[in-house]
Amino acid sequence: MNKELIVLRVNGRTHELALEPSALLLDALRLDLQLTGSKRGCDDSSCGSCTVQVDGVPMLSCTLLAASCEGQDITTIEGVSEHGSLAAIQKAYGDWGGAQCGFCTPGFIMTVKHLLAVNPKPTDEEIRGALSGNLCRCTGYNQMYQAIKAAIVAEQKGVESAL
Ligand code: FES
Ligand code: FES
Repeated sequence: MNKELIVLRVNGRTHELALEPSALLLDALRLDLQLTGSKRGCDDSSCGSCTVQVDGVPMLSCTLLAASCEGQDITTIEGVSEHGSLAAIQKAYGDWGGAQCGFCTPGFIMTVKHLLAVNPKPTDEEIRGALSGNLCRCTGYNQMYQAIKAAIVAEQKGVESAL
């Protein structure tokens, strides 16, 4: 199949890529841009490991055509750190043991970042609901939820100290 020039804006940088029209965003990120933080954990859109944000909204990059993302802002786990420092949710994951093998972690963090952006003080039920499309086979989820709650507290403190 003929390749086409596709322009993707990823983590604030613009890239011109020669891709087949059927190329998936996950493959463009991992194979063409070497951004391997986003993972492929399934073949049927059920694990969430490939989650990235497109214009701030969590999307499964394994089922999204790269070409459909032209003109949109794509953020991957590699773009989550803030001014070279870990984001609150990344730090909390480290502090609370939110990751074991870590395979699911990038996808979870991209989903949590969106949740906290639209709902800075989510209830437990809202957290569980937001994360229902992300699967983890290692942690049993408890440390992960502790990490998310710690990140909520840290982000609130940051907001209050900036007032
Ligand atoms: S790789 Fe599993 S949902 Fe995308
Ligand atoms: S930490 Fe291993 S799959 Fe979640």
